[in-house]
Amino acid sequence: MDKFEKAFNDIIEKDLKVEPRDWMPEKYRKTLIRQVSQHAHSEIIGMQPEGNWLLRAPSLRSKQVLLAKIQDEAGHGLYLYSVAETLGITRQEMNAQLHSGEAKYSSIFNYPTLTWADMGAVGWLVDGAAIVNQVSLQRTSYGPYSRGMVRICKEESFHQRQGYEIMVQMAFGTPEQKEMAQDALNRFWEPALMMFGPHDADSVHKGQSMAWKIKRESNDHLRQRFIDRTVPQAEFLGLTIPDENLKFNEETGHYDHSPFNWDEFWNVVNGNGPCNEQRLDHHKKAHHDNAWVREAAAAYAAKTETIVA
Ligand code: 3HC
Repeated sequence: MDKFEKAFNDIIEKDLKVEPRDWMPEKYRKTLIRQVSQHAHSEIIGMQPEGNWLLRAPSLRSKQVLLAKIQDEAGHGLYLYSVAETLGITRQEMNAQLHSGEAKYSSIFNYPTLTWADMGAVGWLVDGAAIVNQVSLQRTSYGPYSRGMVRICKEESFHQRQGYEIMVQMAFGTPEQKEMAQDALNRFWEPALMMFGPHDADSVHKGQSMAWKIKRESNDHLRQRFIDRTVPQAEFLGLTIPDENLKFNEETGHYDHSPFNWDEFWNVVNGNGPCNEQRLDHHKKAHHDNAWVREAAAAYAAKTETIVA
């Protein structure tokens, strides 16, 4: 083992942070680019289902709060694209990988948002799941990713509360509003659990990602933590989790649940979900229509560089 590899292994072993200028195994760099760029894509694509309700929000306050949340997601995407760029990939390359289908984004965003209660379910469940995953990622071994997670988690907590506030208003509102909240929970519960990825036994990246401390806890471990935390919140709302086998197990201290529909998961991951085509088409159109912004920014940068030089 040469001195560079030894230094890298020491950093991992001592729970220190790998920084952009440190030597790192090519595979470490590549799997981080894979995970971080897909995380960034998820943040940006995730703006679409919520953007669908910006003009339909039921009050000025709910519109302002939703707008603030969506703007946060854009910022999270930019942090994460910047983290990926420290690993040697350009924004253009990441964009091309998204548009070609080479890069993934979280399957959850391929489901439609049909009612205002969906804005509650998304904030409560999707951002709630993201918090469980991202709090764990604060301890990831790559420095820029870890620091980005600390900042993102602070904002994610506002997102989860924004969603839960909508669910409280609906669940304790009129019977029709409560029915809308239950329908949103029915449609978003299992897709939110899928955000944690396949079972550990089927997680192709688990072993190496855990060995390099990129991933600090396994998919199933984080998913169970989310289930255990969320069931009581649904009970407070007086809503029913759409899983007839969900039951608290006194022995384990966790909720037992039904097996997941992995065919549905892989079907959506592989591009056949209800909104996959719409999400990518929208992103491609926005990228094309806003090329002038990139060109203007580049021209301005070139001009100011000339003046400064
Ligand atoms: N949607 C799409 N693809 C998924 C997926 C999902 N929900 N879960 C897993 N996959 C993919 C993986 O990317 C991998 O494919 P790849 O090799 O082409 O990348 C394959 O399925 C096998 O899964 P693994 O468990 O082996 O992969 P990982 O070890 O990377 O674990 C992960 C998957 C848990 C999503 C991990 O990548 C991770 O923690 N990523 C960072 C967090 C993230 O991306 N969250 C997405 C949501 S972001 C968000 O919620 C924003 C919030 O503001 C709303």
